[in-house]
Amino acid sequence: MRILSFIIWTFILYLFGGFNEESPHGKDFKISCSTCHSSKGWSLDKEIYSFDHSKTKMPLTDSHKDINCKMCHPTLVFSEAKAKTECVNCHTDVHQQTTSNYCDKCHTPSSWIVNKITEIHQQSRFPLLGVHTMTECQKCHKSETLHRYDVLGVECIDCHREKFMSTTQPNHNSAGFSTECSQCHYIYSYEWAGSGFNHSFFPLTLGHANVECAKCHINGNYSIQSTDCYGCHKKDYDATTNPVHLSGCYSTNCMLCHTTNPGWSPVNFDHEQYFPINSGKHSGIACNQCHTNPANCTYYCLGCHNNQSELNNNHSDVGGYTYSSAGCYNCHPKGNAGGKK
Ligand code: HEC
Ligand code: HEC
Ligand code: HEC
Ligand code: HEC
Ligand code: HEC
Ligand code: HEC
Ligand code: HEC
Ligand code: HEC
Ligand code: HEC
Ligand code: HEC
Ligand code: HEC
Ligand code: HEC
Ligand code: HEC
Repeated sequence: MRILSFIIWTFILYLFGGFNEESPHGKDFKISCSTCHSSKGWSLDKEIYSFDHSKTKMPLTDSHKDINCKMCHPTLVFSEAKAKTECVNCHTDVHQQTTSNYCDKCHTPSSWIVNKITEIHQQSRFPLLGVHTMTECQKCHKSETLHRYDVLGVECIDCHREKFMSTTQPNHNSAGFSTECSQCHYIYSYEWAGSGFNHSFFPLTLGHANVECAKCHINGNYSIQSTDCYGCHKKDYDATTNPVHLSGCYSTNCMLCHTTNPGWSPVNFDHEQYFPINSGKHSGIACNQCHTNPANCTYYCLGCHNNQSELNNNHSDVGGYTYSSAGCYNCHPKGNAGGKK
């Protein structure tokens, strides 16, 4: 190889008569001239060119493949290009620092066109969702025509302040609503009202789905302080007939038994954990037979177990026996004769 290159080098010198022709490629240039030049002259001879550029840290792909070497090596001292492999080393940042210096996050050498706009936003602080996927770039990037991608901000209020100030139904400003729109509006919505409204702080599901806002927000009052069922459903509670809630032990904490299931049914309440009333000697007994005082939920056993002397006799050998409801329940929590077990 060395011999061959020597021969060619000599031949070239002969051909051009310029015996003192200097290499323009710098002092420490080690690659044999014949890798790139032939007797045809000092331009690059593509037929014999055999330098493997992909062995450098800058493989030439796509549009970079067919470019004249001098566009990247203007001085022809190839080593000067070393470590200048970042896009921004050679290409002007048309975006004027409104994106980043990592051009390859969005671009490849094949073209400057970018197809992954959604992905780009996904990875940013502002994913494009809902109506925003269909909004023209320029509406958010006002200087897009100048290739600038800066924005007013990434919070809803940054872009929607005017909307907020001009709301009438309801008037957000006077209602004292937060400017954190996403507290009440879905980020993936297509509109502000209707389905675009987010009520997840008090989910409007089951029996509360499709209930007009005004039924709960009477006279446009949006500052309901309490989510307590009884506060809104006292009338329903008082009017119950099957079962009558007013008498007996129907707590006003509806959640003890109810969900928001339409029709108030089915009920999720298991009395057996307190005292069996669906099995054994007490099945079918009405609530108010034991829960005799509707104002509270205490129980009373002695209404039926009223034969005190017989009971006293039956318990003559039982230590700690007293004739009282609490006594009966303490020793007979399951309502059977087995006592506490
Ligand atoms: C890796 C490829 C490569 C090698 C190896 C190489 N050259 Fe070059 N050389 C070029 C290229 C590319 C040009 C620019 C050609 C053009 O302008 O079209 C060039 C241009 C030249 C020129 C003309 C300079 C000018 O101003 O136009 C001379 C002289 C030259 N080379 C000498 C040498 C000598 C001597 C060697 C061996 C020591 C050598 N080259 C090795 C690629 C190479
Ligand atoms: C798109 C830009 C680009 C083009 C076009 C390009 N190069 Fe390069 N070249 C580079 C970069 C950048 C490096 C340095 C890579 C590195 O750091 O390893 C380099 C490295 C080299 C080196 C090794 C330098 C050394 O000292 O290690 C040679 C030789 C070279 N190029 C020759 C050529 C020749 C010949 C052509 C044309 C056929 C060419 N290059 C076209 C960008 C380019
Ligand atoms: C060492 C310099 C250099 C580096 C590094 C470099 N390029 Fe290039 N690139 C050029 C040159 C020179 C051209 C051709 C002249 C021009 O179009 O600017 C070019 C052309 C292109 C083109 C084609 C432009 C067109 O109009 O068709 C694209 C796209 C491109 N480069 C993208 C990139 C990307 C993306 C990177 C980083 C991954 C990169 N370049 C890294 C020098 C470089
Ligand atoms: C976060 C993504 C992103 C980054 C990072 C980015 N760009 Fe872009 N660039 C774009 C988008 C989007 C376009 C518009 C492309 C389109 O319309 O398809 C664009 C367009 C371009 C264009 C074409 C402009 C024209 O005339 O149409 C060039 C050149 C360009 N970018 C260079 C760069 C350079 C250089 C860098 C690094 C300094 C860079 N870009 C970084 C997203 C990016
Ligand atoms: C609804 C508003 C909106 C629309 C429409 C929109 N963007 Fe954006 N875009 C943003 C916001 C906000 C950011 C800033 C994200 C950040 O800073 O984290 C951004 C960031 C960017 C960035 C920079 C990302 C980065 O990582 O630096 C580019 C590039 C971009 N958008 C391009 C586009 C293009 C192209 C379109 C149209 C196809 C578009 N955007 C449509 C709001 C939007
Ligand atoms: C970077 C600016 C920007 C940000 C940030 C932004 N938007 Fe938008 N949004 C727009 C633009 C532009 C439109 C298109 C309509 C227009 O021109 O006002 C739009 C439209 C909407 C619409 C459709 C109804 C309408 O006004 O046309 C809703 C709903 C919406 N945005 C909600 C939100 C919510 C919720 C957030 C916060 C999570 C948010 N936006 C953040 C710019 C933004
Ligand atoms: C506390 C809850 C809440 C917050 C926070 C909130 N909104 Fe609303 N917004 C509502 C309600 C309730 C409606 C009426 C929904 C309906 O009618 O379905 C509404 C409706 C709207 C409407 C349409 C009605 C009209 O009068 O134009 C716009 C526009 C609007 N909101 C913008 C915003 C913007 C912008 C923000 C943030 C800067 C925001 N909202 C924050 C509760 C809120
Ligand atoms: C079934 C009753 C009910 C219905 C129907 C209902 N809400 Fe509410 N809403 C509530 C309750 C309860 C609260 C208080 C939640 C809390 O404080 O946790 C509330 C709170 C709000 C708030 C104040 C949020 C805040 O952060 O201050 C707004 C605004 C609101 N609702 C709007 C609406 C709109 C608009 C509708 C119709 C689409 C609606 N509500 C339908 C029960 C309801
Ligand atoms: C802010 C007032 C409000 C609160 C708080 C509230 N509701 Fe409602 N609820 C309503 C309204 C209004 C309706 C619609 C039916 C009506 O007009 O009575 C409704 C409907 C229902 C229905 C459907 C009734 C039927 O006939 O199908 C059930 C069940 C229900 N609520 C259960 C509950 C439970 C359980 C709670 C406590 C977690 C609760 N609600 C809290 C206002 C409220
Ligand atoms: C200890 C359990 C329990 C509690 C606590 C309770 N309920 Fe009920 N409720 C029931 C049962 C059992 C039914 C009958 C369900 C069935 O038929 O599937 C019922 C049925 C109802 C009915 C429909 C029957 C009728 O006659 O109208 C309404 C309305 C009702 N409850 C409202 C309330 C309200 C409001 C509260 C809270 C303020 C409440 N309930 C608390 C157990 C309870
Ligand atoms: C045979 C007597 C008896 C009957 C009948 C009965 N209960 Fe009870 N109930 C009890 C006893 C005993 C307890 C346990 C009390 C305790 O732990 O303080 C209890 C507990 C409860 C509790 C839990 C009270 C609390 O403090 O959390 C509720 C609610 C309840 N009963 C509702 C009912 C309802 C509704 C009916 C009718 C369907 C009913 N009970 C029928 C005896 C009865
Ligand atoms: C509505 C009437 C009634 C009330 C109230 C009542 N019981 Fe009874 N109880 C009965 C009847 C009827 C029997 C079965 C007849 C019998 O064995 O005396 C019975 C039987 C029992 C037995 C014996 C069971 C067996 O297997 O022999 C115990 C223990 C008992 N009750 C405990 C209680 C306790 C504790 C309470 C209060 C929480 C209570 N009862 C409230 C009617 C009642
Ligand atoms: C200190 C615990 C204790 C108390 C208090 C108590 N019992 Fe008993 N009871 C027992 C034990 C133990 C037996 C089983 C006695 C035996 O088999 O000799 C029993 C047996 C019974 C029997 C079955 C008697 C038979 O011979 O068939 C009944 C009915 C009964 N108790 C009802 C009650 C009632 C009603 C009360 C409340 C007035 C009550 N007990 C209070 C412990 C108690």
